[in-house]
Amino acid sequence: MVIGAGQMGAGIAQVCAQSGYQVKLNDRNESALEKGMATIEKLLHRAVTKERLSETEKQAVLERLSLSTDLADAHDCDLVIEAIVENMDLKATLFRELDQIAPAHAILATNTSSLPITEIAATTKRPAQVIGMHFMNPVPVMKLVEIIRGLQTSDATYETIASMSDRLDKTSVAVNDFPGFVANRILMPMINEAIYTVYEGVASPEDVDTVMKLGMNHPMGPLTLADFIGLDTCLSIMEVLHEGFGDSKYRPCPLLRQYVQAGWLGKKTGRGFFEYE
Ligand code: CAA
Ligand code: NAD
Repeated sequence: MVIGAGQMGAGIAQVCAQSGYQVKLNDRNESALEKGMATIEKLLHRAVTKERLSETEKQAVLERLSLSTDLADAHDCDLVIEAIVENMDLKATLFRELDQIAPAHAILATNTSSLPITEIAATTKRPAQVIGMHFMNPVPVMKLVEIIRGLQTSDATYETIASMSDRLDKTSVAVNDFPGFVANRILMPMINEAIYTVYEGVASPEDVDTVMKLGMNHPMGPLTLADFIGLDTCLSIMEVLHEGFGDSKYRPCPLLRQYVQAGWLGKKTGRGFFEYE
């Protein structure tokens, strides 16, 4: 089961189904499920038109996917990958509930960008079977999975998730449980600094992105990338780094905080540092 049918959850469900797994995609919000499924269908259709997938294979992938709004559907799942919003209280509540529902042998993985795996694991009675499985956005395109071991994660759990990542045709990297892991400890301060350059009037958002695209060959400028990730997620990650390390160098830019307060969450809400159709 994949829980959360947002941009990450839909991508994870698609990649798992394309690799032969039976997948239940769960969200508490029915319209999020419909939107997630529509995205998956669009991307599979694109793969067919590009002759990377046959129509028969596409149908087989779709048949391996089912939708769910009821967490009780996790009762017969071997693996659950959680991809709900980046909020410790919500994830803790979900893991507590999941622990009661999922079979005793099931692994509970989280796609969290930054939250402590050890703390999420401690909300369950099976901390040895809880692990971080951090995919990158967009999931069908990006090759990396960061695998984060909590303090009590067992070797068997790690090995199962590492071999599953291979089967998904991803490259995995083993990381210890520190705030932001590796990916966001490095990426997010760069994005936050880009926001500071706009906040301090050093340059416009367009020009900041041009500097990083043409000057450093980044595929997307940092502000376009922040909009793509979601500004709410970016702020949550900066707060985890700030609190987790207790170092003022990670303080979130006030402009980032203000945009999130305004509901300007980036591409998903139509407005962030840039505007979207
Ligand atoms: N979902 C699925 N596929 C997508 C996609 C999406 N959202 N966006 C683009 N693609 C696919 C396109 O369909 C296209 O595939 P084809 O081979 O079928 O043509 C391919 O990606 C290339 O797309 P484009 O030619 O349209 O555009 P591009 O060359 O600029 O590539 C990109 C798009 C791959 C997203 C590229 O801009 C990129 O790599 N951006 C940076 C992404 C990045 O840094 N991701 C990590 C974010 S941080 C994170 O994930 C961790 C966290 O916790 C926050
Ligand atoms: P999103 O806002 O696109 O989607 C979150 C989904 O979770 C929504 O559809 C919402 O309805 C659903 N949800 C919320 N609470 C739920 C609950 N209790 N039960 C079931 N569904 C629930 O978020 P996203 O960008 O897909 O991020 C999801 C997770 O993945 C976060 O932990 C985030 O940090 C992480 N992540 C995000 C990115 C990124 O680039 N956006 C990259 C890697 C990891």
